Amino acid sequence: MKKLLLGTVCAAVMASAAAVVPAHAQSKGSVEVMHWWTSGGEAAAVGVLKQDLESKGVTWQDMPVAGGAGEAAMTALRARVTSGNPPTAAQLLGMSLRAWAEEGFLGDLSEVAEPEGWDSVIPEPLQAFAKYDGHYVAAPVNIHRPNWLWSNAKIFQDNGLTPPKTWEEFNQVADALKAKGIQPLAHGGQNWQDTTIFDDVVLGIGGPEFYQKAIIEADPEALGSDTMVQVFDQMRKIRGYVDPNFSGRDWNLATAMVINGEAAMQLMGDWAKGEIIAAGKVPGVDILCTTAPGTEGSFLFNTDFFAMFDVGEERKPAQLIMASAAMSPSFQETFNLAKGSIPARTDVPGDKFDACGKQSMADIKAAQEKGTLMGSLAHGHAQPPAIQGAIFDVVTNHFNSDQSSADAAKALVDAVAAAQ
Ligand code: BGC
Repeated sequence: MKKLLLGTVCAAVMASAAAVVPAHAQSKGSVEVMHWWTSGGEAAAVGVLKQDLESKGVTWQDMPVAGGAGEAAMTALRARVTSGNPPTAAQLLGMSLRAWAEEGFLGDLSEVAEPEGWDSVIPEPLQAFAKYDGHYVAAPVNIHRPNWLWSNAKIFQDNGLTPPKTWEEFNQVADALKAKGIQPLAHGGQNWQDTTIFDDVVLGIGGPEFYQKAIIEADPEALGSDTMVQVFDQMRKIRGYVDPNFSGRDWNLATAMVINGEAAMQLMGDWAKGEIIAAGKVPGVDILCTTAPGTEGSFLFNTDFFAMFDVGEERKPAQLIMASAAMSPSFQETFNLAKGSIPARTDVPGDKFDACGKQSMADIKAAQEKGTLMGSLAHGHAQPPAIQGAIFDVVTNHFNSDQSSADAAKALVDAVAAAQ
């Protein structure tokens, strides 16, 4: 106990020593923020929040933990919290946010959420994660869409091709490109990237009802079905369209391959758009955005939440300023223009967004009406971390071996059952 207290006191002293506030702003304290936004586009987006807070007198103590989709950040966060020294805020995806809330580590944001009327501007599917026990524990900053296909416009034009709308067309286009010596698909072999593609294939081949059954409900019959066998057949085809150096490649380096014309396409969420913008290219013109093959009419989503830890009275005022700033309409506009996502708030105008952003805004509305707005498994909005991890293992193991599709589907059923 003594040790823990001493650790906490030391950390508090260190935190205040590090809080160097610019002379012009009156100090309102500091926030320590853990996140995994380290690529060019991501860093530009997080810089918007940092600047906004510093203009309000709150010092930003950056705690970046590199690693796409946040796996490394989650390990670092657990170590910090269990040693009794949580950061002020951490970037979390929906299901892990819920898990932290259930463990009782998060604070209560009612003091800002109620007067600012968050309930009337945050869509219900996001409130389901942002609130716990009737009060807000996190601020949602965006809505990302993982089911996008990014295509290099020049490669497609030069070769008389159009971005594929079905998986059958995808295979035809990829074969045509391969025959001409052009790398069809840029990909990074990491479990979450493999599963980002897997989500697209499940939705594209099986349709929204199948995605709902297999991924959202983890229904064993759907997981082991003939449709799932076809999904793994398509994953095997896709494996044939990536270059030999794909293993371990970071997602943003794969995006750069499409931007630079070293590969024709990438299947990735719209954080890729942040990279396209940061590289000075125009999304929808230089790099085309179309929904991942077969997924038109459906919207997979994931949201980045700033989960607010229970930090005690001294650090709370700065935390509340951060929560309020992250929810302001002007911040949500500027941040999402850089990040590639769309605002979490429903009342932010879309006129400054590019063609892909406008399409996302229109598609999410339509999907919500049709009941085809569903959480992304790869990006933490479909299953709790244990089941998600079990599916990651099966998908990645199949992608990197010669396992048959039937065996992979069987392994999926077993792995999910064991993780439940
Ligand atoms: C996050 C994005 C992030 C991406 C790549 C996703 O899970 O929601 O904000 O840019 O991972 O790291």
